[in-house]
Amino acid sequence: MSKIAALTQWIDDRFPMTSNWKAHLTEYYAPKNFNFWYYFGSLALLVLVIQILSGIFLTMHYKPDASQAFASVEYIMRDVPSGWLVRYIHSTGASMFFVVVYLHMMRGLLYGSFRKPRELVWIFGMLIYLCLMAEAFFGYLLPWGQMSYWGAQVIVNLFSAVPFVGEDLSVWIRGDYVVSDATLNRFFAFHVIAIPLVLLGLVAAHILALHEVGSNNPDGIEIKKKKDPKTGIPLDGIAFHPYYTVKDIVGVVVFLMVFSVIIFFMPEVGGYFLEYNNFIPADPLKTPPHIAPVWYFTPYYAMLRAVPAMLGSQFPGVIVMGLGVMVFFLLPWLDRGKVKSIRYRGPKYKIWLTLFVISFVILAWLGMNPTDFLGKFPGSTLEMATFLARVFTVIYFAFFVLMPWYTATDKEKPEPERVTG
Ligand code: HEM
Repeated sequence: MSKIAALTQWIDDRFPMTSNWKAHLTEYYAPKNFNFWYYFGSLALLVLVIQILSGIFLTMHYKPDASQAFASVEYIMRDVPSGWLVRYIHSTGASMFFVVVYLHMMRGLLYGSFRKPRELVWIFGMLIYLCLMAEAFFGYLLPWGQMSYWGAQVIVNLFSAVPFVGEDLSVWIRGDYVVSDATLNRFFAFHVIAIPLVLLGLVAAHILALHEVGSNNPDGIEIKKKKDPKTGIPLDGIAFHPYYTVKDIVGVVVFLMVFSVIIFFMPEVGGYFLEYNNFIPADPLKTPPHIAPVWYFTPYYAMLRAVPAMLGSQFPGVIVMGLGVMVFFLLPWLDRGKVKSIRYRGPKYKIWLTLFVISFVILAWLGMNPTDFLGKFPGSTLEMATFLARVFTVIYFAFFVLMPWYTATDKEKPEPERVTG
C-alpha cells in the first residue's frame, strides 16, 4: 500500500472522508443537461468564501466606533497596503452576491426547482436570502457614511410603525433613541459573527437537502426514475466530479473576469454598488435630500412607498414590503402545474413569469429614485412614480396569488421520458 493510500485508510478508520467525498462528489450523479443557469449555485459558494476572507482582513483594520469608523475605512483605502483592494473586493462582492443569488432564484422559477421533492432546498434557500439581506443591511452601517447612517435610521424607524410596541421595539433594536455608537457596535457583532455563522449553517443544510433528493434540471424531470438496473446509477446522471467541477471552473473564470473589471475600473458602478453620499461622514444633524437603499433592496422599498399611510401609520406599507419577500416561501404550494420546466409549461405561466420579472425590475428602478422624479400623474396630485409602483406591486403579488389557478388550467406540453440535449 502506498503512503498516501495508507494515510487515507488511517483517516477513513477515524473520519468519514472517502465516503463523503464519494457521496457528494465522485458518486453524486447530477443530470447531464445542466445549462448556463446552473452556474450560479457554485458561484454563490465562491462569493461566500470571497466575502468571508475579505471581511476577515477588513476587520483587522476597521474600528467599530462611531468616532473612528469612517476614518478607519479611509485609512484602509489610503494607507493599509492593498487595503483599497480588499475593501473593493468586499463592496463589489456584496452586490455581486445579490446578482448571483437573484439569477440562482430565477433558475428555480424557470425550471420549477422549488417543487416537490425540493421544498426544503427552497425553504433553506429562502432563509439564506433573508440572512443575506440582514447581513447586507448590518454591513452597510459600518462605514458610517451619510447613507449608512440615514439608511439605518429609516429602516429601524419602520419598526416603530408596529402597533403598541413599535416605539419600544425600535429603541431596543438601536440601543438608543437615534442610530448611535451603541447601534454601530451591535450591527458590527451581527455582521461579523452572528449572521455569518447562521449563513454557513444554512448553506450546509441547503446542499445536504439538495443531495438527499438530487438536482433538478432544465427539463424538470426526475432522473432517479430511470436507473441502470445493474449499477443503480441514473441513466441521465453524470458524476459531479470531475464533470461538473470542471464545468463550474469555466463559470468561475468568467465570473472573476467580470469581478476584476468592476474592482479595477469601476468599483462604484455609477453609484449602484457604492453610493456617492456614503463618501460623506455620517452627520446626525443633516438628513440627505434623497435616501435610497442599495439597488438589491429597492424593489421592496418601492412597495413600501407605494402603500398609503393609514391613520398616519406606515404599518400597512411595512406589512406589504414584508409580504413581498415572505411570499416566495409559499411557492412550492402555490404551483399546481403538472410539469416543472418552463420548456413544457403553457402560455399562462410564461406570461405571468414575464410580467413578474418586469414588475421586479421596474419596482427596483422606481425604488432607486425620489418619488417625484417622474412628475405628477396627469390631472391629479398623485406622483406618477407612486402610481406606477402601485400598479407593479399589484402585478407582483398577482403572480403568486393567482398561481394556483393559472398553473392548474394552463395548456402544458407532455414532458419527455428522458432528459433532452
Ligand atoms: C449563499 C447563497 C446560496 C448558496 C451558496 C447556494 C448554493 C447552491 C448550490 C451549490 C446548489 C447546487 C448547484 C446549482 O443547482 O446551482 C444550489 C441549488 C439550489 N438552490 Fe441554492 N444557494 C444559495 C442561495 C439560494 C437561494 C436564496 C435560493 C432560493 C430562495 C436557492 C434555491 C436553490 C434551489 C431550488 C436549488 C436546486 C436547483 C435545482 O436542482 O434545479 N438557493 N444552491
